[in-house]
Amino acid sequence: MTDDITNANTGRDDEYDKSLRPKLLREFIGQTSFTDNLKVYIEAAKKRNEPLDHLLLSGPPGLGKTTLASIVANEMNTNLKSTSAPILEKTGDLAAILTDLERGDILFIDEIHRLKRHIEEVLYSAMEDFTLDIIIGQGPAAKSVKINLEPFTLIGATTRSGLISSPLLGRFGIKENLDYYTTDDMMNILTRSAGLLETTLDDDAAKVIAKCSRGTPRVANGLLKRVRDFAQITGGGRITKKVAEESLTRLQIDELGLNKTDIRLLNTIIDNYDGGPVGAKTLAISIGEEADTIEEVYEPYLIQLGFLKRTPRGRMATRKAYEHLGRKYGGNAELALFDVEE
Ligand SMILES: Nc1ncnc2c1ncn2[C@@H]1O[C@H](COP(=O)(O)OP(=O)(O)OP(=O)(O)O)[C@@H](O)[C@H]1O
Ligand SMILES: [Mg+2]
Repeated sequence: MTDDITNANTGRDDEYDKSLRPKLLREFIGQTSFTDNLKVYIEAAKKRNEPLDHLLLSGPPGLGKTTLASIVANEMNTNLKSTSAPILEKTGDLAAILTDLERGDILFIDEIHRLKRHIEEVLYSAMEDFTLDIIIGQGPAAKSVKINLEPFTLIGATTRSGLISSPLLGRFGIKENLDYYTTDDMMNILTRSAGLLETTLDDDAAKVIAKCSRGTPRVANGLLKRVRDFAQITGGGRITKKVAEESLTRLQIDELGLNKTDIRLLNTIIDNYDGGPVGAKTLAISIGEEADTIEEVYEPYLIQLGFLKRTPRGRMATRKAYEHLGRKYGGNAELALFDVEE
């Protein structure tokens, strides 16, 4: 794992991250086609005095899934109980959490695609009719017991919605896949964060940082933190365009927000595999990164830029990638002679 600040997994849930986290829907910038609807669902549920429907939030790291879960709890005036799928080992772990919920509470399960199957099955009846079916005892003496739960809302977050089973998927009434933010949204997020940090950020500087932020608020806030340091030392605290540009150069982040790892990944495909296709695992080993980090953090942004393609035979660098790196495009990469395992 690298400590690149443009890796959206860096700085997750630290104090700085939390201090900038919006608490109410009206402070949440962007994703408006979803948040406008969410506002209606919340108001309607409150009017009926019912919990909100179960909500599944998916999308790359740092786009605001955890933030939205806590916003929903604030807007509904309820408690938020948070857990993460990998730490739930036994069905009893989940049963204990579920039986502890009060009416209307929100249960947030992060990384929900990593739920173990037997635990996931406990969720089915809990989500559907707020009951818990558990088996007590073993062998012929085993008894199935039904326990009633208080009505609650499950909010699941995932960076890999494709890995969620269809029975679980079908039990979420509201599903949203968060997109990368536009440059305008990113500028607004940066301006809001700078305000909270009592730092002066010029508009043209905000634009420079916004463009390098990979459409990801966590990355934007991470860059702002570093640029603020440079501004303090060299520019009297004010973040001007010049300070922003110089800082990004020093951080080795290019104008599209690509960092050393992205560049190394693309160059490796080009130099070692004739532009691809190369299997994801082979690629991960070649550049010394975790396969999961590559798939969840690096690739989605490179794909969104049109620099990388996922094909059934593996990853390929596109003409656009060659051009961005100033490399000569052979044009026949698609006809690569070597088949690589996936
Ligand atoms: N729409 C937004 N407006 C302003 N700030 C935002 C917005 N979305 C996210 N942020 C900021 O980005 C940070 C990261 O968001 P968050 O932790 O919710 O991401 P996440 O999707 O849960 O990521 P992960 O998949 O890594 O858990 C938050 O602390 C918050 O400061
Ligand atoms: Mg999160």
